[in-house]
Amino acid sequence: MAYENIIVETREKVGFIQLHRPQALNALNSALLAELSTALEAFDKDNGIGAIVLTGSEKAFAAGADIKEMQTLDFADAYLGDYFSEWERVTRLRKPLIAAVAGYALGGGCELAMMCDFIIAADTAKFGQPEITLGVMPGMGGSQRLTRSVGKSKAMDLCLTGRMMDAAEAERCGLVARVVPAGELVAEALKAAGKIASFSLPVAMMTKETVNRAYETTLSEGLRFERRVFHSMFALEDQKEGMTAFAEKRPPNFKNR
Ligand code: CAA
Repeated sequence: MAYENIIVETREKVGFIQLHRPQALNALNSALLAELSTALEAFDKDNGIGAIVLTGSEKAFAAGADIKEMQTLDFADAYLGDYFSEWERVTRLRKPLIAAVAGYALGGGCELAMMCDFIIAADTAKFGQPEITLGVMPGMGGSQRLTRSVGKSKAMDLCLTGRMMDAAEAERCGLVARVVPAGELVAEALKAAGKIASFSLPVAMMTKETVNRAYETTLSEGLRFERRVFHSMFALEDQKEGMTAFAEKRPPNFKNR
């Protein structure tokens, strides 16, 4: 597939995708969604890829869903087409996905970053859910994922006032995992993804799956799920290799088996 709205590259064992609609600050329209989900799913199926980085430009990760595309929708269009439900494809990926955010991550841009497994932010990043200023509310997960991530008070503040928060505030409230200088953002995200990709792929995937269970179930069920998955890892050659390498004081050589 030839991409017009994203740039797709492979950097060793890391899949790298850059949103590329500079004329619209990477506003998320249907064409971009189709390309992004195709590229993400291709990396997810590629045995040579261990982790994925998703980034935007220096000015904008993404300035939201495409307002001009939504402007003329009526209720029947939105309801019958189940508008925005296709974005759930991003959350069905099984491999670790890192959002590297510089500049604006607003509305759907913030929501897309939150669909990733964690966010590394440049010190220039600005997060917000400004939908209320457009006469709507978040529709790609903002009211739910933001609330779980930063708590009710901060989520209400952001969704009801539409204000933006900077990278330092986003790190303080736990939305982002770390903040780095803007010039080092992509390198840092690739380094983190490379590190993840150097480990056992099934272990990284099961770790992602297990952390995500924390959002879907009770503590006791989550702990039971964790133990079952943990036990199952002892069926992997990579568990033997990892622990043997530690005992032998050498780096492990994981085979993804
Ligand atoms: N949709 C469509 N086009 C957008 C866009 C968006 N979300 N955000 C920016 N653009 C376009 C602008 O229309 C402009 O295009 P033209 O040159 O053709 O006029 C171009 O990108 C550059 O934008 P600005 O001139 O506005 O750039 P700026 O630096 O002055 O301002 C900004 C930057 C503050 C991010 C401003 O562009 C802005 O407020 N954008 C909209 C942010 C927003 O409201 N996002 C939420 C969208 S709704 C949503 O996401 C729903 C949901 O829950 C998923």
